[in-house]
This record gives sequence, structure tokens and C-alpha cells, in this order.
Amino acid sequence: PLVPLRPLMEAAEQHNYAQGAFNVNAVAQAKAVIEMHETFRSPAILQGADLANAFMGGRVDFANGTLEDKKKGARNIAAAVKKYGENSPIPVVLHLDHGKNFDSCVAAIEGGYTSVMIDGSSLPLEQNIELTREVVKYAHARGVSVEGELGVLGGQEDHVFAATSTYTNPLDAVRFIQETEVDALAISYGTQHGANKGKDAKLRKEIPIAIKECINRLGIFCALVSHGSSTVPQYIVKEINDLGGDIQNAYGIQVERLMEAIPCGIRKINVDTDIRLAVTRNMKELFAQQPALQNSPSIGGVYALLEEKKSAFDPRVFFPPIMDTVLTGNLPDDDVALLMSRV
Ligand code: G3H
Ligand code: 13P
Ligand code: NA
Ligand code: ZN
Repeated sequence: PLVPLRPLMEAAEQHNYAQGAFNVNAVAQAKAVIEMHETFRSPAILQGADLANAFMGGRVDFANGTLEDKKKGARNIAAAVKKYGENSPIPVVLHLDHGKNFDSCVAAIEGGYTSVMIDGSSLPLEQNIELTREVVKYAHARGVSVEGELGVLGGQEDHVFAATSTYTNPLDAVRFIQETEVDALAISYGTQHGANKGKDAKLRKEIPIAIKECINRLGIFCALVSHGSSTVPQYIVKEINDLGGDIQNAYGIQVERLMEAIPCGIRKINVDTDIRLAVTRNMKELFAQQPALQNSPSIGGVYALLEEKKSAFDPRVFFPPIMDTVLTGNLPDDDVALLMSRV
């Protein structure tokens, strides 16, 4: 069944574990994430980011997606998640990742999302609190969970812990949680989005520890979320580059660091980049293994884009030639079916 985020986070708190949360940009990926979690008998958290909703609304230039595109995309991905998740034995959450504004959250909720993130982290604290409260009010009235964000994930060097810090300030976090009543809070404690996180990134575990200690004493619960948590497996980067790709200076968070963060109160671990890297590798590998597919009338265009954009690893860059399949999951021929089995 489809459920909100909150009960999954409460279970994770009770038993001291964290849930992975996986970003999807195609119907086939939503199906795959649900099936994989069924295999492990684990609840699943699927995430569609704001831009992912624009893309799933059919907008190839998703960075320029309108609210209408996002509404359409939210309905589209939610329909797919319902199709594969509604009668599934595992609880499935469909969560909006990095909702830009109130309207993006409403679009997701109207489309069928069961949880939303409002990312007000670029706003001054007061305005972030105000915006997040509005979203919480709207979402909770509809049985939908909410994640907020405080602090700015960025480059390692910027992250000095001082008055100007971009790390999450635990005092602000406690106030933010109390005043907004969010179910989850994304914190900045040393992780970073994307594939270039720097080598051997350290995590400031004292930040989640301090927040968790304080909210425990206040008798409130809020799940702490680790964004930017891809591990960027070096063997996958090497395989992409050996297949003609050009991905430089790519490092992730070591899995040991993430494991250490869980007992500090991290209950959700967001992963997008690792999926993008794996999909890029898989597609390049297929065309290398079966060169005849390079000239396929249906998927040859994907190969051409892989060849042209050597440093790209966002599957959305390569998907335009097979957009109908991305949006519907329909497999018009064997070549498309083969390619989609790799995404
Ligand atoms: O944290 C950001 C996610 O990786 C989503 O990225 O906005 O390109 O879909 P996106
Ligand atoms: P990565 O870029 O490390 O995969 O982080 C994803 C994320 O935080 C999505 O919200
Ligand atoms: Na942010
Ligand atoms: Zn994120």
C-alpha cells in the first residue's frame, strides 16, 4: 500500500535503522525500486524531485519546466507508483524531493504523492519556518508527511562551523522542528549533492546527535535526513570512463561514514547520483556488448547522445529518443525492452 513517510520514520527510530530513499525519473525505475524492496521485504521510499516531476510531465528541457508540467509529471509518476505499489505487500512512500515552493508541494500532493519536502534552506530562518509551516498545515490536513531543510549543503571548504556556517545550527534546528512540526528534517553535516563530494569527506556527527538529544528531551520526534549520500562507487566511475565516458574527480561518502551516522539519528538516506551513474554505465555497457544496437531505429538515438555527452551521467539527458517509454513504461520493441531492463 501507499503510505506517508512518518510511520516508516517512527519504525526506523524505534529500531535504530535508516531507510534509503531513491530518486526515480522514469516509470521503469519506479517499478524497479518497488520490486527490489519487495525482494528484501523492506518498506520503500521513492523520490521524485521537483525537476523529475517536470521531466515526467514530458518536458525534455526539464530545467525550464512549468507548474503545469510538474502537475502532469506528479500525476504520471504517482499513477505508476500506485500501479506497482498499491497491492504490494510492502509499504511504499512516494516523496517529493526538494520541493521548490508551496505550489510544487500542492502539485505533488494533488498528483498523489504521500510525502513532500519543502526546501526553504536558501531562505532566512524566519521565512523558512513560515513557508514550511504553511506546507505542513496543507499537507497534514491531507494525511501527507513533510520534510523541511535547514543549512546548506555545499563544498567541503565552505563548511566552517562558525557564525557564518552553512552547517545546520542545532539550536536553529530544534526551534525549526518545534515551530513547523515537520516529520523529517534535512540537515547539512558534511554531505554534498552530486558526484564531486571530495575525497574522504568527514561527517560532523555532533550535529545530528545534538538535535536528537534536544528533541528527545522535548518529547518530540523528527526524522533527520542525510541528503547528498551517494557513495559514488569507484569501480562504476572507472567502468564508465573505460567505456569512453569522461567523469573526473568523482568521490562519494564512504558507506562506513553513513553507517556511523545512523545511531546519531539519521533515519533517511537520500541516493540519486549512484543510480544515475549505474544507469549510465549499464546503457554504455549494453551498446558496447551489442554494437548492432548502436544503429537501432528505436534506441540508436540514445547511443548517439551517450557518445556526444561524455561527461554527462544524468539519464534524463539520454532519454529523449525514448520519451514515450520513459513516461509510460510501454515497450514498443525488443531493443527498447533490452535498454529499459538496464535503467
Ligand atoms: O538532491 C537533488 C536530487 O539529486 C534531484 O536532482 O533536481 O536534478 O532531479 P534533480
Ligand atoms: P546524491 O547526489 O549524493 O545522490 O544525493 C541525492 C539527494 O540528496 C536527493 O535529495
Ligand atoms: Na538545499
Ligand atoms: Zn537532496
